[in-house]
This record gives sequence, structure tokens and C-alpha cells, in this order.
Amino acid sequence: MARIFSGIQPSGELHIGNYLGAVRNWVQLQQAHPGAIFCIVDYHALTGNYDPAVLRQRRHEMAVSLLAAGIDPARATLYAQSTVPEHTELAWIFNTITPLGELERQTQYKDKSSRQESVVVGLLTYPVLQAADILLYLADTVPVGEDQVQHLELSREVARKWNARFAPEDAPFFPEPKPLLTPTRRIMGLDGQAKMSKSMGNTIGLLEEGDAIWAKLRPAVTDPARVRKTDPGTPEVCNIYHLHKAFSPPPVVAEVAEKCSTAAWGCIECKKVLHEHMEAELVPIRRRAAELREAPELITAALDAGTETCRTIARATMGRVKEAMGLT
Ligand code: AMP
Ligand code: TRP
Repeated sequence: MARIFSGIQPSGELHIGNYLGAVRNWVQLQQAHPGAIFCIVDYHALTGNYDPAVLRQRRHEMAVSLLAAGIDPARATLYAQSTVPEHTELAWIFNTITPLGELERQTQYKDKSSRQESVVVGLLTYPVLQAADILLYLADTVPVGEDQVQHLELSREVARKWNARFAPEDAPFFPEPKPLLTPTRRIMGLDGQAKMSKSMGNTIGLLEEGDAIWAKLRPAVTDPARVRKTDPGTPEVCNIYHLHKAFSPPPVVAEVAEKCSTAAWGCIECKKVLHEHMEAELVPIRRRAAELREAPELITAALDAGTETCRTIARATMGRVKEAMGLT
């Protein structure tokens, strides 16, 4: 049986890229895998510039969003990373076996560090903490979007290196965790230029109101070949079509493809149909979020229970790690 772990930064609101690339998959996976663990990675969020009061608020909001999206504390474990100190303990240990060159090659590190004048060490060792997150629970399956594939390669290398050095050859201790991608592994922003991401300001928030979503969809970029309504388009090159594939039922997706390539529909008509199907999925999520905001004690209870569960597992792992490394 797969052991599932994944994480999300509380560095902004949960957007539909996160939802379609990862979180919707978490909600499905918890059915067949009741022990799945989902973590709000607040330590990871410290590597960017941030305001403590805003972080506190966003951590809470992320819990609201995840629970509203369908994470069920009766089936899955939800908690905040900084409430389980073993994450940073194991990260230090992994720092001592991770090759510097591997960290310097990480695309995310190269991107982010090139945009900063002074680069903090935490940005470089970010993937080491991520490896610790996963391996602390001996997880082997990590549902994420495509942008995390390289970080998971590094997690596998860390597991291999630790096993080679400290575990018997015939009984590796850490599994080699693999990414689990969805069909919507990379959602583009509404500008159609870059990945949908908190830092690009090109997102649709999971909890945004219907009118606000429509105000963003209406001017969103479509197939550039469709200058006039009568110009036929190529669905596959259009971001709106990909959102249809994520939100609309298959017969509607087929109809969209047909109406676009024959210019029977203009882009606005196509977006209206998309908006309807998005609302069908998102209205109940918004409703649950509003209910949860009225009951903060439910959120605290879910997170506290998650911390308890995780500390028990984490302590056991650290016990075995320290034993193997001569630290007892
Ligand atoms: P983050 O918000 O960077 O902590 O990402 C949380 C999860 O959402 C990770 O599994 C990411 O891979 C996934 N994710 C973030 N942006 C996108 C996107 N534009 N398309 C698909 N998945 C995404
Ligand atoms: N780096 C991930 C992201 O930006 C977040 C993350 C931290 C994570 N630790 C993790 C994801 C462990 C999966 C497993 O999306």
C-alpha cells in the first residue's frame, strides 16, 4: 500500500493551479489511502520575504481552503510543518549527506536566486527540508504538480545516499519517493504566458467569488489565431480549453473542441460555458469555507490532531535514524 505525503506552502491563497495540479488529487487519494498526510509547509515559506502577521493569517487560510476543498480529517492527516520539530532535525542530518552541486543545479533555486541580490542559505537547502518532510514518514508516493519533479529526484538521491551509508545493503530504511502527477500537471496563468503561480499574479483563487472569476476569465488569453469570432481555433493551444478539460464533463469538452475549431462559438461563449462548470465545482467549496470560517475551533482541532499523529511517527523515525548513525 502506497504511503502518501504532500505539502503546500502557505505563502498565498490556494489557487486553481494548486487545486488541479495537486489538492484535488489529495482529496481523491484519501479515499483509498486513509493514512495520507498533508502538510502546510510553513518553514518552507520563510525562505521568501514575509510579514509574520500575514504568515499567521495565511497559514490559517490555507487550512480553511484545504478542508473546504475536501481534505477530511477523519481520513487524512492535516497539520503545519513547524509543529513537528523532527522535520528540521532530519533536515540537518540530510544536510550532511547532500552534495552541494545537486542543490545548485535545482531549477527553482537558480530561478529564485538569480532574482535576488543577497541569497539566503535556506533557499539553497529548501529541497533538503522537503526530502526530510517526506522521508520522516517513510512516504513513497508524493502527489504534486510537475514543478516538483526535480525536487523529488533529489529526495530519492538523499534516501539512496543515507541508505548506502547507514542501512544494511539488503534492508534499505528510507523508500525512494516518487511523484504522482495529475492529467493537469501544469496549469498556465490567465496571461497564457507562464505557469499559474502566486508570485506571478496570474491566478484564480480557489475561493474567489463567481463574479470575480468571470472578471478574470473574460479578458483571459485564448488561441491568438482567433482574432475575429469567425476565425477557427486550435483547442489544444488554448488555455481555456485546458481548463475545460479540468472542469467540464467529457461531452462538453468534445463540444468545445468542435465549436472552437469550426468557429461556431466565439471565445466569450466558450468562456461562459467554462465558468458555469467551474461554478458547479467551486460553489460548494466556497460554501464550506464560509462555514469553516465561522468555526475556527474545528480548524484548530483538525490541525492539533494532525500534529499528534505526525509527532508519533516522526519520533519513531528519528529514533531509528539516530540509532543507525551512532547518535544514541
Ligand atoms: P506551492 O503553492 O508552490 O506550494 O505548490 C503546491 C502544489 O501545487 C505543488 O504540488 C505544486 O506542484 C502544485 N502547483 C503549483 N502551481 C501549479 C500549476 N500552475 N499547475 C499545476 N500544479 C501546480
Ligand atoms: N516545495 C513544494 C512546493 O513548492 C512544497 C513542499 C514542501 C512539498 N515539502 C514538500 C511538496 C513535501 C511535497 C512533499 O510546492
